[in-house]
Amino acid sequence: MAADLFSSAEDSRMISLTDTLLEIMDQHIAEQEAGQIIEDLKDVIRFHDKKYYLESSNIITDHQYDQLFAWLKRLEEDYPTYISADSPTRRISEVLNDGFKTVQHLVPMLSLENSYNPDDLLRFDKRIRESLPADMQVRYSVEPKFDGSSIALVYENDQLIRAATRGNGMEGDDITANARTIRSIPLTAAFSKEGIRKIELRGEAVIELTVFEQMNIERARLNEQLRTEGKKELEPFKNARNTAAGSLRLKDPSEVAQRKLDVIIYQVGYAEDAGGRNITDDIRTSHAEYLQMLAIMGFRTPGNALITFSDIMEVHAYCMEWQDKRDQYPIDIDGMVIKVDSIRQQQILGRTSHHPKWAAAFKFKARQATSVLRKVEFQVGRTGAVTPVAKIDPVQLMGVEISSISLHNEDFILEKDIHIGDTVIVERAGDVIPYIVGVVPERRSGQEKPIDFPIDCPSCNHHLIKPEEESVWRCINPDCPAQIEERLIHFVSVNAMDIQGLGEEIIRTFIREQLIATIADIYQLDFSRIRQLEGWKEKSVNNLQQSIEASKENDMWRLITGLGIRHVGNITAKMLATEVEYLTDYASWDLERFMQLKDIGPKVAASLYAFFSDAENIALIRRLADLGVNIRKTEVVLASEKLSGKTFLFTGTMPNLSRDEGKALVEANGGKVLSGVSANLDYLVAGEKAGSKLTKAEKIPSIQIIDEATFLEMIS
Ligand code: IVH
Repeated sequence: MAADLFSSAEDSRMISLTDTLLEIMDQHIAEQEAGQIIEDLKDVIRFHDKKYYLESSNIITDHQYDQLFAWLKRLEEDYPTYISADSPTRRISEVLNDGFKTVQHLVPMLSLENSYNPDDLLRFDKRIRESLPADMQVRYSVEPKFDGSSIALVYENDQLIRAATRGNGMEGDDITANARTIRSIPLTAAFSKEGIRKIELRGEAVIELTVFEQMNIERARLNEQLRTEGKKELEPFKNARNTAAGSLRLKDPSEVAQRKLDVIIYQVGYAEDAGGRNITDDIRTSHAEYLQMLAIMGFRTPGNALITFSDIMEVHAYCMEWQDKRDQYPIDIDGMVIKVDSIRQQQILGRTSHHPKWAAAFKFKARQATSVLRKVEFQVGRTGAVTPVAKIDPVQLMGVEISSISLHNEDFILEKDIHIGDTVIVERAGDVIPYIVGVVPERRSGQEKPIDFPIDCPSCNHHLIKPEEESVWRCINPDCPAQIEERLIHFVSVNAMDIQGLGEEIIRTFIREQLIATIADIYQLDFSRIRQLEGWKEKSVNNLQQSIEASKENDMWRLITGLGIRHVGNITAKMLATEVEYLTDYASWDLERFMQLKDIGPKVAASLYAFFSDAENIALIRRLADLGVNIRKTEVVLASEKLSGKTFLFTGTMPNLSRDEGKALVEANGGKVLSGVSANLDYLVAGEKAGSKLTKAEKIPSIQIIDEATFLEMIS
């Protein structure tokens, strides 16, 4: 860590304190030192919270942060007298049993008047200038309008004492316990230095978009596990705004902590001094200065995104600039907020019961549009599921023309009460697939018709069935042409056999040209015929031939995924690929044996059993093997078995290896790394400044204490 890279002396002090704490972390702490170390840990954790959340700078790794945090928690458990309400460990409290308490805001939380175009802004500007003395210069501060959920924070005597949702503007829900888990909300802030005893801040709770994406990735991972256990899956989070709003109102604060919310402060609602006098408008002279003060105190604010202008057309240009780059910003924003910067002028302008007269929102072009639903087509997927697809009058939404949207299943249609001829609201956020938010019942003429679900498969006319506890209708004819087509598309896709140059459209063409009809046909393509097809050149045919050839060497799990066994995704496929010598070995397994596989629930086991006991499926796998496709076990590649059956733990600083590198070496040689010292440990590899782990290991005679060189010799 290069302390001199950081400008302020306080920063360097915090960084070297962090270094010291990380160094002594493993050592034994004497009781008389505990108080000071707890104070130091609190300071550095707050410092890194601030650096991470407010300046997006990672000075220490997440792992180091977690270690410091865990140490503080341990020390507070050992020395409870040092626990204070403002400790970062106190952010999470008990689960809330009853509903939220209703609390009154110190002053009402108002709305904003909307504007959409330069004319609206010109009118706003004109009204403001007319309401102010002619000799006053007007400046506007312009900042993003964050699309999350409003929140009000009250601090008294420098401590966060309350957080509330907006509610009806007069009173909201008390969500203090949840707000305390949000790392960008300081639990203490130096308001008293400014002569403020009590203050209410207004802000927006948001979830950063990358964090939001990660949440859905994790949810998908969890769903795959739930699926293997035969449990009900969780819905993916729809968008960051709803998720932020929903998270604020979760009953369990520890769950809120996992949602990784952020709060951006955009306004001081109310402030008073020690004598109870209202000093809301007396602390700074401009809005920009207020936010700067709050930023210095440790709050996340619009920061550099706030700029002031004196010309309303420049304000408009700035808004348009943001409209164009909104998707590059880490947080969802739905417009800009324009505020008269001078607090004195804000006072003169005043407010209505609905909005302040000195502010306006400039709304970005909508991500929503309305259109008319003309007809519904039914598509058959590879598993036979029949999906209704809405055909709507084409609409432009954020630069993309939309004319086709999935309606998911019959329940979705019933729940949203969608009819043919309805005016529907279509939404699209970023590059997310468009979806129908709902219909506009007021636009109905009475001529709208219900959507009739087919009784027979639109592709093969086989009778459709709706399995119990499922919301989809299915075609169960294994020879259904639509299913075969989708299965082939799935087989070659990136998550399965990953055959480049063989995309969806080409598969469709090859089927139409009767070049392929089954998966096995992919490996016996007549390339001379492909050469004669329109658009195919020698080079593209050769490339295709090569990638098909290359796919024969794929790991077995790709083939398992490609076969499209129901409820079997990549994770299950990877596990299955290590359990048998040849994929066809599963043909002799009974249901019981599938049930015994790790992480496999009854539903997946039944699906695997059904698949592998079907002679046609086994014949297909054999055929693929004959054509050269790999169906052999995936070997876990080991550098050696030298450490097989042995357990290791690393402690202290080693001359060459990091702990992660050490761990990788142990595992590559067949050994295991443990997380703590216990009688199960065979070797403790101790480096410099090895602390409590070494002391503990020395007391257990069966543990061998070795240095890095000895460890490296063991595997050389
Ligand atoms: S100022 C008295 N600034 O937009 C001033 N509001 O209708 C009132 N919002 O739900 C609000 N970003 O939570 C202001 N930079 C910003 C904002 C912002 C988002 C929200 C606010 C409220 C709505 C206003």
